[in-house]
Amino acid sequence: MTTPPPLLQVSAVTRRYRLPRQRLLAPAPVLTAVEDVSLSIAPGETLGVVGESGSGKSTLARMVMAFEAPDAGSIRFRGSDPNALPRKALRSLRREFQMVFQDPFGSLDPRRRIGWSVAEPLRAAQATDQTGPRVAEALEQVGLHPRDAERFPHEFSGGQRQRIAIARAIVTRPALLVADEAVSALDVSVQAQILNLLMDLQEELGLGILFISHDLAVVASLCDSLLVMRHGRTVEAGPTDRVLSAPESDYTKTLLKAAGVT
Ligand SMILES: Nc1ncnc2c1ncn2[C@@H]1O[C@H](COP(=O)(O)OP(=O)(O)OP(=O)(O)O)[C@@H](O)[C@H]1O
Ligand SMILES: [Mg+2]
Repeated sequence: MTTPPPLLQVSAVTRRYRLPRQRLLAPAPVLTAVEDVSLSIAPGETLGVVGESGSGKSTLARMVMAFEAPDAGSIRFRGSDPNALPRKALRSLRREFQMVFQDPFGSLDPRRRIGWSVAEPLRAAQATDQTGPRVAEALEQVGLHPRDAERFPHEFSGGQRQRIAIARAIVTRPALLVADEAVSALDVSVQAQILNLLMDLQEELGLGILFISHDLAVVASLCDSLLVMRHGRTVEAGPTDRVLSAPESDYTKTLLKAAGVT
């Protein structure tokens, strides 16, 4: 029996940025934002990436989303490299992996009705044949009403706007969701509602989720396994229970203490 490839396989990726020269003729300094990071996500699995500000989490997310390519290492989505695909094939593959951002107000056009914004990934993937029903379905899946498609972003609370952002991310029926600080801007009680929603969706739709947060308590409540990053490198990775009960690195221990999870 052959095992199917994981949904997402990230192997030893490194990403460097060239920074502006300090002086004329001086060599441009290079910052290594992510170094030698590996992970994999199976369908229906939730992997949490946690680490302090600047540890490379969003850079990793951008590579997984094929917004930028790694300088070394590889990314495989269902066994194929998104960065190696012709543009048209990548556009159609993008239906399969979607992103939820931190600031739904910033990413929802205030002058457009919700339905227009939620349908955006369908237009991007040139899959607009079923737009109306798909948008209605996605709104219902996140606990909103299909009629909300007619309303504008300012008519919703922060938590509802994050639901809208999640509706937009699942409207193409993706296999993988990348959530970068998706609940960080929300009150704790609203955070819990959104985390529950993500767990329900994961179960209902069999979604793989790459969940990024600087908050270990949030990540631990949602995720099957954890990856702890610092200065672009992996300091610890493993099943959530093991990382919480027997952390191997001092940095993880510090995070656990700070988050009050121990
Ligand atoms: N486009 C870029 N050009 C230059 N440096 C960058 C660029 N993007 C990120 N960096 C640098 O790479 C490092 C990692 O940044 P990144 O945004 O991935 O961290 P993060 O873990 O997401 O942080 P935060 O928790 O604040 O969101 C930082 O030092 C950042 O300044
Ligand atoms: Mg970030």
